[in-house]
Amino acid sequence: MKILITGANGMLANAIKEELKNEELICTDVADLDITNAEQVDEFVKKVNPEYIINCAAYTAVDKAEENEELAYRINAIGPKNLAISANENNAILVHISTDYVFGGDRPVDKDYSEEDEKNPQAVYGTTKLAGENFIKENCSKYYIFRTAWLYGEGHNFVRTMLELAKTKNEVKVVNDQHGSPTYAVDLASIIHQTINKKLEYGIYNATNIGYTTWYDFTKMIFELENVKCKVIPVTSEEFKSPAKRPKNSQMSKDKLLKNGIIIPTYEDALRRYLSK
Ligand SMILES: NC(=O)c1ccc[n+]([C@@H]2O[C@H](COP(=O)([O-])OP(=O)(O)OC[C@H]3O[C@@H](n4cnc5c(N)ncnc54)[C@H](OP(=O)(O)O)[C@@H]3O)[C@@H](O)[C@H]2O)c1
Repeated sequence: MKILITGANGMLANAIKEELKNEELICTDVADLDITNAEQVDEFVKKVNPEYIINCAAYTAVDKAEENEELAYRINAIGPKNLAISANENNAILVHISTDYVFGGDRPVDKDYSEEDEKNPQAVYGTTKLAGENFIKENCSKYYIFRTAWLYGEGHNFVRTMLELAKTKNEVKVVNDQHGSPTYAVDLASIIHQTINKKLEYGIYNATNIGYTTWYDFTKMIFELENVKCKVIPVTSEEFKSPAKRPKNSQMSKDKLLKNGIIIPTYEDALRRYLSK
């Protein structure tokens, strides 16, 4: 399979490149292919003529997006639109990654979000990512959109940040009122690979590791597994102010993928594997 990967130096892209290493990969970053440039995307896709385009390019700085709305929109909405148009014209299948931040995140924690539930992003990042999803739906007939959350893997991420903090601090404060599924990039890459192999119906799929936790409990688990003696202090989102509002409940049901036979490990299993690497 000939697969074009955009944003190929990012965290998820690293895992996807490893997962799909036996395929013919054309890996590009912004210097080779700027997804916001419609003409460049059009020419590149025509020239390469891939079977799949996997878009790993994104503006992912959630807090900075509040001040850089235009840039975030260009990368997270116009970029996917350009790719969708080119994929459609060249009969390629577009694989795109979206986020739990497209949901309002305010429903009771005993309820998770299915793919079709109402979207109501609370911050610029989620708004631009939802616009990207909608452009793909409007401009492309063959697409997979995977909504993921709390991603970690090779590169800067929450797990590493906590372990670094614990080296110099006796205690760390972590929010205990945001609920979601930490997701190992390696497992998301596998979900994408399985979906392509099984040729599942095109559309949107929630795609995180299985199980729900809070950042507080997840941090406790990280420290326990690494035998780190750093105290974890629970705090509320209100105490831990950030420029962009975070969803309190970003739990997404994986039933759609599971019903289709996609194998998804639990977040506990994923964390153990990540830490033992
Ligand atoms: N990280 C999370 O917790 C999380 C959660 C939910 C969903 N997601 C989604 O998952 C996907 C992958 O996230 P990630 O954390 O792997 O992202 P990442 O590490 O931030 O990588 C994004 C990549 O996109 C590149 N890029 C930026 N603008 C570009 C442009 N105009 N053209 C081409 N490439 C461009 C970046 O290059 P430079 O570094 O050179 O700018 C970077 O290599 C994204 O769609 C993100 O929205 C992530």
